[in-house]
Amino acid sequence: MSENTPKRYHPVHVVIHWLMALLIVMMLGVGKTVMPGIDPTDPQKPMMLQSHAFIGMTIGVLLLVRIVMLFAAKRPAPADAGNAALNFIGRAVHILLYVLMLGMVASGLGLFQMANLPAVFSGAAPYPANFFEYLPRVGHGLFSWLLLGLVALHVGAALFHQFIKKDNLLARMWFGK
Ligand code: HEM
Repeated sequence: MSENTPKRYHPVHVVIHWLMALLIVMMLGVGKTVMPGIDPTDPQKPMMLQSHAFIGMTIGVLLLVRIVMLFAAKRPAPADAGNAALNFIGRAVHILLYVLMLGMVASGLGLFQMANLPAVFSGAAPYPANFFEYLPRVGHGLFSWLLLGLVALHVGAALFHQFIKKDNLLARMWFGK
């Protein structure tokens, strides 16, 4: 590890990481539980989807800033889980998290365009009876389950480092000197 390798992530990275974590857990939670329970004819449905699309696009912008930051700012050395296979899995999970987050935003934007959501939100078009007639809806649903699984693995790994390896890895994703 070079002398210039920081001990923590850049504060911009830290803010975006925790903001995205909050928004994504909320989107996955509401998307899997509340959203499917509301009937397409319910007047609340377009409003709910509009908030969903707005937050989804916000996640997209945060993700782009984060990807730029990955290359623009120095990062701490890769975490060491204590064995080569776990280290490989750790890196793969991080890359897949980025791929799936991009996939969620891209498929969401695909639906936005194909189902003409601006017209649905303004009341000019009815709420689509079934989004599954648009291909990106299949990807959006599939990616959402995969993302849920990877988020669980990611949280599990952080807890493993914090409480079993006791290396205080979480401090790298927080503020400090
Ligand atoms: C990281 C960002 C996003 C996450 C985590 C997310 C999450 C979800 C989840 C969990 C569902 C339910 C999926 C299922 O159970 O099959 C869903 C549905 C949906 N999402 Fe997203 N989403 C994101 C971004 C977006 C964006 C940017 C848009 C549009 C601009 C969008 C539009 C939709 C639509 C149209 C549905 C279908 C609603 C329905 O079937 O009534 N999503 N989303």
